[in-house]
Amino acid sequence: MSMISVLFVCLGNICRSPMAEALFRHKVRAAGLEEHFYIDSAGTGDWHIGEGAHPGTCAELQKNNIDASGLVARQLTIGDLVRFDWIVTMDNTNKQGVEWLGKPLGTVAHMLSFGPESGLTEVPDPWYTRDYAQTYALLDAATEGLLAHIREQRAL
Ligand code: 4NP
Repeated sequence: MSMISVLFVCLGNICRSPMAEALFRHKVRAAGLEEHFYIDSAGTGDWHIGEGAHPGTCAELQKNNIDASGLVARQLTIGDLVRFDWIVTMDNTNKQGVEWLGKPLGTVAHMLSFGPESGLTEVPDPWYTRDYAQTYALLDAATEGLLAHIREQRAL
């Protein structure tokens, strides 16, 4: 069984995609599947390169006992497009940012396509809404759905 690589992408890589990365890593570990996955996140923008996750993201993760350490913002690169099996975007702008960079070899999918219960198709940006609890609820459901989808697809 080869590694399954998953990259979460948002705009700044300090709010939504690091939260998705931490949640997905937590669920993968809880399922005992750590050795099968390579998990990372990136932003299409360059403003926050090298910064840790936003305090709102860290607080929400810690409140829910999810490890929030080791999250450092980086920008999406062309190399990511050929390295990752999955590129999971938070909103339409992120998806356009990925496609502007080049043609990904793997699958590009919207995060909320794996957690459609809310009726939203895009994860609202808490950088603007300040509602990190909403971000958490959406990403908790959607990362669960993504893991279930990959497990079924790969018979894990
Ligand atoms: P994120 O939120 O894309 O969820 O990390 C943002 C963070 C920073 C900015 C925009 C969105 N910004 O404009 O600096």
